[in-house]
Amino acid sequence: MDNFTFYNPTKLIFGKGQLETLPQEMEAYGKNVLLVYGGGSIKRRGLYDDVINTLHKAGATVTELAGVEPNPRLSTVRKGVELCKENQIDFLLAVGGGSVIDCTKAIAAGAKYDGDVWDIVLKKQIATEALPFGTVLTLAATGSEMNAGSVITNWETNEKYGWGSPVTFPKFSILDPVNTFSVPKDHTVYGIVDMMSHVLEQYFHQTTNTPLQDRMCEAVLTTVMETAPKLLEDLESYEHRETILYNGTIALNGMLQMGYRGDWATHGIEHAVSAIYDIPHAGGLAILFPNWMEHVMDANLGRFKQLAVRVFGVQDNGSTDKEIALEGIRRLREFWSSLGAPTRLADYDIDDKNIDKMAEHVMSQGTVGNFKSLSHEDVTSILKASL
Ligand code: NZQ
Ligand code: ZN
Repeated sequence: MDNFTFYNPTKLIFGKGQLETLPQEMEAYGKNVLLVYGGGSIKRRGLYDDVINTLHKAGATVTELAGVEPNPRLSTVRKGVELCKENQIDFLLAVGGGSVIDCTKAIAAGAKYDGDVWDIVLKKQIATEALPFGTVLTLAATGSEMNAGSVITNWETNEKYGWGSPVTFPKFSILDPVNTFSVPKDHTVYGIVDMMSHVLEQYFHQTTNTPLQDRMCEAVLTTVMETAPKLLEDLESYEHRETILYNGTIALNGMLQMGYRGDWATHGIEHAVSAIYDIPHAGGLAILFPNWMEHVMDANLGRFKQLAVRVFGVQDNGSTDKEIALEGIRRLREFWSSLGAPTRLADYDIDDKNIDKMAEHVMSQGTVGNFKSLSHEDVTSILKASL
């Protein structure tokens, strides 16, 4: 293991009816609230009304920022920063999926910064202060509800980058599985692919002696794989929504990644794709991940073999390590496509036109990949294999 420090101050409030804790949780942070949400899903089943009523019960004055896009845009973040400054906002509440939460994190940091918030996303400026914020999660996927990361797209330059700071952890996150009942099948699948990808990004590292970390990653993967088909049969199953919701948070709240550095190249490549084509994040991951795996597997076949045997049930009966590893990757692909996830960039009508531009954006982030450091040519060939 490498030396490590674990820090995660987010208070997680999980279960049915937990919205009622909101007034008490907000109390320490002030009553002038910016409510941030997306394109309207929260209005369809009454969650918006419940949140507004609860905020009023808490004596809050509410300013709203509606319409945060999936793959949230810098222009919306800037709008939110203006609203905070104009209205002397002292607390932000994000109600939605990862996009709404990521946008809220950028607004919270931008409101405490005199320059342009894009400097923070580009990591030219480190966010040292942020307005406090809480979240009410409506979609199991990103883990943003319990981490400090945020991913923002600049639609003018077609760039999408992740950033984060110790000051951008949510103060609290309320996770009621019932609020995820209305997530349609496609986004339920994307969420499942995303949380599995987060585990895989972490699982592929070069540090030795991580037996507990390995088992924890494998437990999340097998639990998600057991639950996913049952959930897709019954999208309003409390039990299965609860399991998936909890796995999504555990997959990316830092618990799995103590003592080593995960890879994260595939996320960088996907962000470059969705920055140009605006596709769902995990639709891109489902396509790219198996191709990244095949490209880098020789850097440490043992880890691919372990995944294949322990998670995908590949038998170790006389085949070579490479054959076992490849069979594991084949079964991952097969599992994701059995859920209905896309398998090729062509599924989104993406051709080779912008491959060079995408690779350039990926490389602009410095080192790409910790399991295996990728060059411009590596990124290009992973993208080409994904067409
Ligand atoms: O906008 P609304 O109307 O709310 O609709 C959303 C959106 O269309 C809908 N939705 C959300 N909750 C719903 C619902 N529809 C019905 N019922 C509900 N309860 O789902 C659609 C997708 O929402 P979005 O928030 O975009 O999805 P997700 O949570 O997957 O977030 C994706 C974003 O997070 C970034 C991605 O790159 C992408 O920009 N990521 C953030 C990470 C982080 N902060 O740690 C890590 C991830 O790897 C990822 O990169
Ligand atoms: Zn992701």
